[in-house]
Amino acid sequence: MSQPVHVRLIGICKAFGPVQVLREVNFEVRGGEVHALMGENGAGKSTLMKVLGGLHAADSGRIEIDGQAVQWRSPADAEKQGIAIIHQELNLIPELTVAENLFLGRELHRFGVLDKAAMARGARQALERLGVAGIDPAAEVSRLSVGQQQMVEIARALMLNARVLILDEPTAALSERETEALFAIMAGLREQGVAMVYVSHRMEEIFRVCQRISVLRDGGMVGERLVQDTSFDELVGMMVGRALDERFPRRDVTPGAVRLAVKNLSDGARVHGVNFEVRAGEVLGIAGLMGAGRSEILRTLFGLSPRGAAQVQLDGQPLALKGPVHAIDAGLAFVTEDRKTQGLVLGLSVRENAMLVHLNRVTRAGVVQSGAEQRQVQGLIEQLRIRTRDSELEVGALSGGNQQKVVFAKWLASPPKVLLLDEPTRGVDVGGKAEIYHIINQLAAQGVAIVMVSSELPEVLALSDRILVMHEGRQTALLAAHEASQEAVMAAASGQSQTPAAQTATLAH
Ligand SMILES: Nc1ncnc2c1ncn2[C@@H]1O[C@H](COP(=O)(O)OP(=O)(O)OP(=O)(O)O)[C@@H](O)[C@H]1O
Ligand SMILES: [Mg+2]
Repeated sequence: MSQPVHVRLIGICKAFGPVQVLREVNFEVRGGEVHALMGENGAGKSTLMKVLGGLHAADSGRIEIDGQAVQWRSPADAEKQGIAIIHQELNLIPELTVAENLFLGRELHRFGVLDKAAMARGARQALERLGVAGIDPAAEVSRLSVGQQQMVEIARALMLNARVLILDEPTAALSERETEALFAIMAGLREQGVAMVYVSHRMEEIFRVCQRISVLRDGGMVGERLVQDTSFDELVGMMVGRALDERFPRRDVTPGAVRLAVKNLSDGARVHGVNFEVRAGEVLGIAGLMGAGRSEILRTLFGLSPRGAAQVQLDGQPLALKGPVHAIDAGLAFVTEDRKTQGLVLGLSVRENAMLVHLNRVTRAGVVQSGAEQRQVQGLIEQLRIRTRDSELEVGALSGGNQQKVVFAKWLASPPKVLLLDEPTRGVDVGGKAEIYHIINQLAAQGVAIVMVSSELPEVLALSDRILVMHEGRQTALLAAHEASQEAVMAAASGQSQTPAAQTATLAH
């Protein structure tokens, strides 16, 4: 590549109806750099990137590439100029195969007919390059896990050989290994002079892979820093407009009686022989790599695995795994990792989503208390600081992190006995994360037993009383949190056997 590309966004304004989302935003990125775009949930990061990617037209302002003003009428226009986006909300078509998604809109032909063999080959190469050769190009996307779908989304953007690559929360659904593969590719692209914009709420990643950082707050650009000239605290101050008290609020709960006892859990496919107990007021973290079977444990307990089986006792009573309705009635709640297909109904309002579980109950009892419901929803919106114009707004129009908070609100409306959390803070900003940790602690203090799957190790280590580690469908460790370290968890996650500390922790319960 000759001269490194130089992209500038100048004075960008954008409103949705009455809501001004971007105000006179200036932003630039150059070839060979990774430029982080940070800001709280709803600050306008994705909107700004969608303007650059041709998905939204700006109300005013302009885009320049190498000093030339450009204008797109569609994402295809932007793609032709070498701009590719990896979207925060997965943008694949679930009913199509991996290969069909990868070549959508740019299918390969041979003698005038679709060249399926060439596309399958191309798809396989693209996936191998990302180190996920295990994904079958012929598989329907709806059958893949969220993490695998994210890898397909990344492969799709990389296949465009773009000069400018926008990565909007690319690692939110990935775990360590996939994240490392992506970072290695990004380092290679940097050397080739590709310009990258990196949107993430994970500070550790920002400091590792980015050279410059720009911060948006309430749709306005607060400032730009070189990574070596700034700090965690300064960035939080710029994003939030105030100092944050604690990143991980402390919890002081003495666990009570065993609430949930699980023996010999199997999902009927990959996961076998999982055993654990969770006491009232206790948080059990589940760690492991993508595909290790962490989510399957939760799904099986909630009755979502058709062939799942386990001996489960809830408060000393046997619990049959009959399905979600039965699980909810028994006192289980589940915050799923995939808000788009399982967690939320995007076409319903914030209030309707928040009340969904609750409504099922009151409707069955034949009572609907609208005033009380409205007050409760308002309370939840304030407690979780959900950024929404009002409770009647469709959830689909909220920013990604705020959607995740609505998922949480849904279960908080009626505290369960056992709360299953799958990646509870995915895509949530620093302030929002602290708020969610606070709520987890509050629920624990009320005696809720919490089982939490998370790919963010600092979060697992800080929140859990004990940590169960999975590797390829098997439980490889059960560590007491005060004895657990990042290294011990990673070792167990990569299949190394239990340490003595792990065995003591198992025996202690
Ligand atoms: N299509 C839309 N219609 C109406 N409002 C929208 C639409 N898209 C975004 N918004 C609003 O614009 C604001 C900025 O949203 P955006 O998705 O850009 O935030 P973000 O910084 O990417 O947040 P997150 O970290 O949660 O992903 C939010 O208040 C959101 O509700
Ligand atoms: Mg976003």
